[in-house]
Amino acid sequence: MRMVDVIEKKRNGKELTPEEIHFVITGYTNGRIPDYQMSAFAMAVFFQGMNNAEMTELTMAMVESGDTIDLTMIDGVKVDKHSTGGVGDKTTLVLAPLVASVGAPVAKMSGRGLGHTGGTLDKLEAIEGFQIELSETAFVNQVNEIGIAVIGQSGDLTPADKKLYALRDVTATVDSIPLIASSIMSKKIAAGSDAICLDVKVGSGAFMKDIDSAKALAQAMVGIAHHSGRKAAAFLTNMQEPLGFAIGNALEIKEAIDTLKGHGPQDLTELSLIIGSYMVYFAQKAESVEEARKLLEANIANGRAYAKFEEFIQAQHGNLAVIQNLELLPTAVYTIPVYATETGYIQEIEAIALGHAAMTLGAGRQTKEDAIDYGVGIVLTKKVGDFINEGDVIAYLHANRENVTNEINIVLTGIHIEETLANKLPLIYEIITD
Ligand code: URA
Repeated sequence: MRMVDVIEKKRNGKELTPEEIHFVITGYTNGRIPDYQMSAFAMAVFFQGMNNAEMTELTMAMVESGDTIDLTMIDGVKVDKHSTGGVGDKTTLVLAPLVASVGAPVAKMSGRGLGHTGGTLDKLEAIEGFQIELSETAFVNQVNEIGIAVIGQSGDLTPADKKLYALRDVTATVDSIPLIASSIMSKKIAAGSDAICLDVKVGSGAFMKDIDSAKALAQAMVGIAHHSGRKAAAFLTNMQEPLGFAIGNALEIKEAIDTLKGHGPQDLTELSLIIGSYMVYFAQKAESVEEARKLLEANIANGRAYAKFEEFIQAQHGNLAVIQNLELLPTAVYTIPVYATETGYIQEIEAIALGHAAMTLGAGRQTKEDAIDYGVGIVLTKKVGDFINEGDVIAYLHANRENVTNEINIVLTGIHIEETLANKLPLIYEIITD
């Protein structure tokens, strides 16, 4: 087989065979196929697309390019969750203990944040002592003992995706649905999950800017899951504003704890209950999604969801005193109010702008090498649809420096206030299942 023939076939819009797709991915991973041919291939896929069978082969070829995590020693159906990246998105911190509290095993590998979206691991590391590295045996044992473990990626999972993603980044081929879908799904499948819940964010601050492209991505990922014998559901969710009120690592830990105790923000609570219901249903811990939701609501009300969070933090060596007394979490030196400059209804809170301001305060990384400042961030006082008077506090900046003029300007520019009542978009546009 010759790479040039495979490129030509895809360029002409033909369906590739499984052998051709495996030839491309194996050859690229081991260096036999050079970057210039792989770039041409990625561009051919960008323009011609791929059908479900091809996307599934591409996904599985990338899974086979590296290590895979074997979760068969964990009892039950292992359900993972993935978000395409949101600002203030602390859903995993709520979901993981919540679904574990009703007996659905959570064996999760999470990532760090880069740019305007935060990573679950960074948030967990805001808790003193919390360990994100466990051996594979310790990881499996912990899930079997307490039903939950969340760790950083171990092993060399999907090296083909790492190499191809870096190439796509510099060849204008990132935003291709078959390439994004296979990239995300290969990582989830290599991490050992039997079923996957996918939170596909839609909005100006998200990867997918409009509902149609988000839906196409969601359908592609659910299709790959189906073809590879896994269950999946994708949730098209709104990023017209950050999730909840808090952005920043320790601030988000506090908000996640509030939510587990039943007094969190409405949007975060609802999203956690909806995605959590599917996770519990897929894990066969409830007969229906509706029954699963009732179990989750009950465990928030009776304290079991929060108790599972404590158990999880303690198992991974986090200092319990810190979450029992949230004043012991890292805090910023200054809490600086931002005042609204107009009167009216809040129409939009640009997630990307708020995420960017939080990052420049130190809550996120601009480059992989940057250190995180766990105590800093932003806490909003209002959500889209709320009324505000000029001069009222619209947000607080938690900062470790006094001069935050730049961040105040970013926040004020990112919050759009109109005279008429805002058109609040639904939190969840659509749920796509197979
Ligand atoms: N996230 C991924 O993991 N891969 C992509 O290609 C795009 C977003």
